[in-house]
Amino acid sequence: MINTYKIAPAMTYEVFETKEAAAKKLAAEVAELIRSRAAEGKGVVLGLATGATPLPFYAELIRLHKEEGLSFKNVTTFNLDEYTGLPHDHVESYWYFMHTNLFNHIDIPAENINLPCGTLAPEEIPAHCAAYEQKIKDCGGLDLQILGIGRTGHIGFNEPGSDDTTITRQVHLDDLTKTDAAPAFGGFENVPSTAITMGVATIMGAKKVRLMAWGEKKASIVNKAINGPVTIDVAASYLQNHADAKYFLDTPAAAEL
Ligand code: GLP
Repeated sequence: MINTYKIAPAMTYEVFETKEAAAKKLAAEVAELIRSRAAEGKGVVLGLATGATPLPFYAELIRLHKEEGLSFKNVTTFNLDEYTGLPHDHVESYWYFMHTNLFNHIDIPAENINLPCGTLAPEEIPAHCAAYEQKIKDCGGLDLQILGIGRTGHIGFNEPGSDDTTITRQVHLDDLTKTDAAPAFGGFENVPSTAITMGVATIMGAKKVRLMAWGEKKASIVNKAINGPVTIDVAASYLQNHADAKYFLDTPAAAEL
């Protein structure tokens, strides 16, 4: 794949003084989408992300539910990814993360929640990935995909080498990604080596993409993703080609732009 530079009039970013302020603005946009669809008697399909980054966003969605009556009854969710080998009750599984940090605190119907399954036998994984892609399509596609970004430039677990034709599949994790996850797992050797993730094409298929990044550790990769070439080496750079992608950044994460 050849690296290309592309003018991207549709990709924007906004810089906020704090991650809480950024998360609040993004949550308000999502709430408006949910409410306007509910008023039409329609549902919303959200793509969701894990990691420390979306925590203030999920906290604000929970506040909107508890204090302002925002209902998630018309919302269907698809998470980006899941580690392989971790059961639901493992504290580092994304299933556990999403239930602890969002789903247990809102009124989303359990049957509307979708995550890749981390505990399948290897031979079951390809069919599971194909079914996950198909279910997204059957639900009408992703209306809005929430993203964080890893220091390898990954979105979901699309590590360097993931091009924009990739769909949901099993992947190997980059050593830098495993290093970043090591403290949570009590050591590098305990971090799963593989995961199931939506592909770059799955994410690019979302009608809107909203990526959050906080802190100086993300400044370098945020700049590469926004201002660098569109390249297979930085999965987030493909968002430059998306019709409606926006970065929500705090000041340190925007420092190199
Ligand atoms: C993991 C997730 C990504 C997430 C990234 C960054 O690799 N699969 O979806 O964006 O971590 O994590 P954090 O938000 O903790 O920096």
